[in-house]
Amino acid sequence: MEGNRLELVKYTGLEDFHYFSCIVFNESIMNMGRIFTQEEAEEYFDFMIENDKRYDFAGNYKVFIENNNIYIGTATLRLSEDLLGAEIEYMLLPDYWGKGYGTEIVGCLLNLVSKYESVKEIIAITDPNNIGSRKVLLKNGFESNLTYKVEEDDRIAEKFIKYL
Ligand SMILES: CC(C)(COP(=O)(O)OP(=O)(O)OC[C@H]1O[C@@H](n2cnc3c(N)ncnc32)[C@H](O)[C@@H]1OP(=O)(O)O)[C@@H](O)C(=O)NCCC(=O)NCCS
Repeated sequence: MEGNRLELVKYTGLEDFHYFSCIVFNESIMNMGRIFTQEEAEEYFDFMIENDKRYDFAGNYKVFIENNNIYIGTATLRLSEDLLGAEIEYMLLPDYWGKGYGTEIVGCLLNLVSKYESVKEIIAITDPNNIGSRKVLLKNGFESNLTYKVEEDDRIAEKFIKYL
């Protein structure tokens, strides 16, 4: 099964902040926007932990290589309020790029989505120049749906969609 090299474990409390911070303080990972300040990171992390308690199979996950418990990145499954749609996000530490993990993470997130039968479409937003991210989505059955300008900072973003 795709994804069997990885283990996804929810972020549960302050003891996990160091994992989250090594992602959101890293400029090469945060290529869809700027890196977080310490204050923003702490505020968002608290919100995330509280909000994630609402769902058994959705939210923000630490990603480990299964056999040796090495943390390699972060994965998110965000459900819409009506539970008809979902959005995914994934970010790997640079040492683990290009080894197939991104493709597997998206497979793991799709497995989680399957727990919610009401969800009919999943979206992912990426930079159209992010070849790795585009490929990861296409390999998991997403299709490019729309390219648009992000209002806040004039960046171009590409929306991918997968219908279930
Ligand atoms: C984007 C990202 C998730 C890709 O994950 P990954 O584990 O490196 O991707 P994979 O190893 O599964 O590669 C999937 C395919 O993309 C290709 N690929 C990956 N990175 C690439 C790159 N920088 N340039 C060209 N091709 C690339 C791989 O060769 C592979 O192609 P193949 O299937 O033809 O062999 C990872 O680079 C990352 O976390 N980047 C920083 C954060 C980010 O951009 N997140 C996405 C925001 S939406």
